[in-house]
Amino acid sequence: MSSKSIEFKAPIEAELGIFEKKFRDIMRSEVPLLDKVTYYIIQRKGKQIRPMFIFLVAKMVGQINESTYVGASLIELLHTATLVHDDVVDDANERRGFFSVNALWKNKIAVLVGDYFLSRGLLYALDTNQYKLLHIVSTAIKQMSEGELMQMEKARKLDIDESIYYEIIRNKTASLISAACETGAASASTDENLIAQIRQMGEYIGMAFQIKDDLFDFGEKEIGKPRGIDIKERKMTLPLIYALNHADKDTKKWIINTIKNHNEDKVRVNELIQYVIKSGGIEYTQQKMYEYKEKAFAILNTMPANEAHNNLKELVDYITERNY
Ligand code: IPE
Ligand code: IPE
Ligand code: MG
Ligand code: MG
Repeated sequence: MSSKSIEFKAPIEAELGIFEKKFRDIMRSEVPLLDKVTYYIIQRKGKQIRPMFIFLVAKMVGQINESTYVGASLIELLHTATLVHDDVVDDANERRGFFSVNALWKNKIAVLVGDYFLSRGLLYALDTNQYKLLHIVSTAIKQMSEGELMQMEKARKLDIDESIYYEIIRNKTASLISAACETGAASASTDENLIAQIRQMGEYIGMAFQIKDDLFDFGEKEIGKPRGIDIKERKMTLPLIYALNHADKDTKKWIINTIKNHNEDKVRVNELIQYVIKSGGIEYTQQKMYEYKEKAFAILNTMPANEAHNNLKELVDYITERNY
């Protein structure tokens, strides 16, 4: 999966290079099995959008420095840990275009590897005396766990509505992107008001980001991870919630029955996906995604106008226009 299309990467190419080395170094372990899994993960890097936010935000409000680098490595490491765990939770066998860790080494090892990355990351913040950063990221991890658990509870009861959906994605995804933006700001500025605004901007960006991810699940395009999996996992995302809210009584029954009792039946799940598309659920969801993006832009527009600011705009645009 190429990342060449991400042009705004160019102005921070050097920083991202230094970050990648640091990131690899903290992941190392003396335990051979851990090292093998780590090596496998490093070979397949993700889009690195969280480090990009950290660097561009820091650049916009001040200067990139050592603590910006620590923040970038730490957040990407914690992100990696949560992906390894998330694929266990979602029973997903593909990640970044290849087999997931649980697909290759099974759940037991994936859980322990995720734990290792989490603790390694927290220790890294302590080793570098970054207590503020430790506080920011620990809060985000707590929220992520809460979000994933809330999602599981809703998958059991199927009693989700639109506002609960937003609460779930705010916790499970927006929290870390918000933490990334806050980290970038706090590493290069002491203006508490500015940092708080950037944190809020990051939350809106994170909401748009997860809504886009949920749209992919209904799409046709290859994205390097399984599609149609959300319904299989009984995850009710916004397009489906919209379709359900606008269906007549019998159709509602059919939808719920499909999710409850036929979620492993590919033909039936595909029928439901087609129904959601026909219902206008995709357009509605896109509209909500753009609303969150506009909220982010409303904050960004009040920020210092400079080159990093422009790059940040491009990065925010990429969040909703990306192909994977
Ligand atoms: C995937 O995040 C998990 C979600 C929050 C949707 P990314 O899409 O940033 O994953 P990578 O790092 O690029 O693979
Ligand atoms: C985001 O949710 C997962 C995390 C917060 C780690 P998803 O389950 O939709 O993410 P993907 O689609 O597996 O990347
Ligand atoms: Mg998942
Ligand atoms: Mg997803």
